[in-house]
Amino acid sequence: MKPVKVGLLGLGTVGTGVVRIVEGNQEHLSSQVGSPIVIERIAVKNSEKARDIVVDPSKLTTDPWEVINDPEIDVIVEVMGGINGTKDYILQALDHGKHIVTANKDLMALYGSEILAKAQEKQCDVFYEASVAGGIPIIRTLIEGFSSDRIVKIMGIVNGTTNYILTKMSQEGASYNDVLKEAQDLGYAESDPTSDVEGLDAARKMAILGTLGFRTNVELQDVSVKGISGVSKEDIAFAKRLGYEMKLLGIAECQNEEFNISVQPTMIRAGHPIASVNGVFNAVYVYGEAVGETMFYGAGAGAMPTATSIVADLVAVIKNLKLGVNGLKQIVPYKTKKLKSDEDIYFKNFLLLHVDDKAGVLAKITQVFAEYDVSLDSVVQQANPHNPDAEIIIVTHNASKASMNKVLRHFENLNVIRRIKSHYRVEG
Ligand code: HSE
Repeated sequence: MKPVKVGLLGLGTVGTGVVRIVEGNQEHLSSQVGSPIVIERIAVKNSEKARDIVVDPSKLTTDPWEVINDPEIDVIVEVMGGINGTKDYILQALDHGKHIVTANKDLMALYGSEILAKAQEKQCDVFYEASVAGGIPIIRTLIEGFSSDRIVKIMGIVNGTTNYILTKMSQEGASYNDVLKEAQDLGYAESDPTSDVEGLDAARKMAILGTLGFRTNVELQDVSVKGISGVSKEDIAFAKRLGYEMKLLGIAECQNEEFNISVQPTMIRAGHPIASVNGVFNAVYVYGEAVGETMFYGAGAGAMPTATSIVADLVAVIKNLKLGVNGLKQIVPYKTKKLKSDEDIYFKNFLLLHVDDKAGVLAKITQVFAEYDVSLDSVVQQANPHNPDAEIIIVTHNASKASMNKVLRHFENLNVIRRIKSHYRVEG
């Protein structure tokens, strides 16, 4: 049987995993697709580099265009990363009628709609299962598993680096800076960790999940983002005392065809299934109108989990090739984009205020909440031997984001409040 020929762009950790799975599972794979799968050409940065897999050197090239323009190649697997140059390779490959499998969340979050439109025009597949939550098959689940339901809410722990840091802080009472340093030393966190710790990586993944879940074109600028660099060990201790875990949660909600997506450190009730997702693991919780609660858990990164998703996409492309249905199952968002206004975004809030310790202070504070119609769930004042101010911990009931913003602005000018020490969204 004629083999299906694959061009690989990139042979780093994930690319190596792809070669291992395609070669190691060849019998299992070819029995599913009805022909052998051959990695025909591989674009690498350095063809001389020592690698821990054996690759026929004649397959290697340092020029990605040689792979893109090779008429023998049916499918391009892109695992080189990057945005603008990589986009050009992918668009050109689609122009040549080649199908694409990519793990590139940055590219799909920024240019997914353009790439998918081109794919549809050329009747090609573009699959990107590995771009969100590595080894968890969440993209296929949202497209196919939820095709009959209406998704109301998606909550994701979609960044392993930040989940590792918050887990360590929670379990060991350690500070953010100490755990970040340790994570960098162990190779879990990048030397420039900004994209992970400031929530951008998670925001890109949530934009992809929101687009698929809500069938509308979510762009990165639609996602409000706050990272974990301001989370202190004291905040985590307060969260635990109140029965919550601190997690960097991506939260996407859709009601009445209007949606809201955010990424922020969130206090999540300890009994919630996503609260127990620890270390570098990822999880995506999806609430469907008909199905109710579901949750998907697994490795969010790493060579073999990510390669598993990539090769599963490759199998899907080849099955479509055999059936002659490539390009027919693209989810091109069809709903008009409607973002919720701050008046319609509701959640609970945790506030830690440092205030003057004198009569009437609490009354002034609660009066502000009343003025903006924010109802309180609990209020605790505690003495702190290290702090001459009084510490007031407040958890609100569900309040609109607009009202809470007014409360916070008012607090900034209220003379009895020394500082708004912490403010977090509360879930569950
Ligand atoms: N930097 C990402 C993480 C890797 O920490 O989860 C996977 O995209």
